[in-house]
Amino acid sequence: MNTIPTVNLGSEGLVVPAVGLGCMGMTQIAGADIYGKANEAEAIATIHRSLELGGNFLDTADLYGPLHNERLIAKAIKGQRSQYIIATKFGFEIDDNEQLTWQFNGKPAYVRKAVERSLTNLGTDYIDLYYLHRLDPNTPIEETVGAMADLVKEGKIGYIGLSEVSSATIRKAHRVHPLTAVQTEYSLFERGVEEAGILETLRELGIGFIAYSPLGRGFLSGDIKRPDDFAADDFRRSIPRFQGDAFNKNIELLDEITRLSSEKQVTPSQLAIAWVIAKGLVPIPGTKRVTYVEQNLAAASLALTTSELERLEAIVPLGTSTGDRYDAAGMTWIDQ
Ligand SMILES: NC(=O)c1ccc[n+]([C@@H]2O[C@H](COP(=O)([O-])OP(=O)(O)OC[C@H]3O[C@@H](n4cnc5c(N)ncnc54)[C@H](OP(=O)(O)O)[C@@H]3O)[C@@H](O)[C@H]2O)c1
Repeated sequence: MNTIPTVNLGSEGLVVPAVGLGCMGMTQIAGADIYGKANEAEAIATIHRSLELGGNFLDTADLYGPLHNERLIAKAIKGQRSQYIIATKFGFEIDDNEQLTWQFNGKPAYVRKAVERSLTNLGTDYIDLYYLHRLDPNTPIEETVGAMADLVKEGKIGYIGLSEVSSATIRKAHRVHPLTAVQTEYSLFERGVEEAGILETLRELGIGFIAYSPLGRGFLSGDIKRPDDFAADDFRRSIPRFQGDAFNKNIELLDEITRLSSEKQVTPSQLAIAWVIAKGLVPIPGTKRVTYVEQNLAAASLALTTSELERLEAIVPLGTSTGDRYDAAGMTWIDQ
């Protein structure tokens, strides 16, 4: 097995590779493709190739499918469970018919139900890192994290994480049980957690940060030139950032980023990943293709000079408006 650099995630002892593998696009969500058609054999080959290269940190959620993504991962890791670090999430409520209710549920009884279901679907008896996917506005975070802390004691999960939460929620949760990670969208095009002071809170409390959609949902790869490059049912068509004037403005910013990546003889995706690492954070670029995972993991060893970092940040300085990252409903799900 090759190796890539590793980092301590949080202060509780979890060590992960500097780049993880986002598995969301490997299956649909509620009958819709996220980033184009997936192929199960290629997805499983991608997970195996990632492991070979030292990328043994997989990110999934019960939402993805729902449940099919965890089942795909179970197939991929069969017989090799201990070689992987598995992070999954719960909280988008899934009913007994395996349907999403599109409600949030962080109640202790549901926490237990969700973890047992994920353990079964993943074919494992422990989950390394277990996240609450979105805050349940009807359940105090202390109750949800209290139930997750019981799972740590029982050995069903190793570490606790939260996704898309505010500094106030992080502080309340961390008092109940130390958090290991917070996962939120973060890329050259999305720096809300910096603007809101959340990264500062995490540094103060010794909690790690996982940057999801570090390639700006694929936009930073440079492969998307026009909004029509997205297939008719592609999830990204619903995102304001990829529509109208916002799209045109973002393409101009991307051109400048691509100029810098060409000079450095790397791909824009690699530059985007290396930038997240340079910020001291852990990116989990998502892909369902072997060639992309090879490129993405290679970015773990890419050093950016101070002047390259300054040039990048001058292209998209903190506060740059790139458009909303979710539709109106999705934005209300983010704890602020
Ligand atoms: N906590 C949350 O609420 C949340 C939300 C969203 C995502 N996530 C997690 O974060 C992970 C990563 O985010 P993401 O998948 O949304 O977005 P992303 O990593 O920013 O981008 C994924 C897109 O980039 C493409 N891509 C990947 N590597 C590439 C390369 N080297 N060259 C060209 N294109 C490349 C992928 O193509 P292919 O698909 O064709 O390979 C896919 O279309 C997800 O898989 C998921 O596990 C969490």
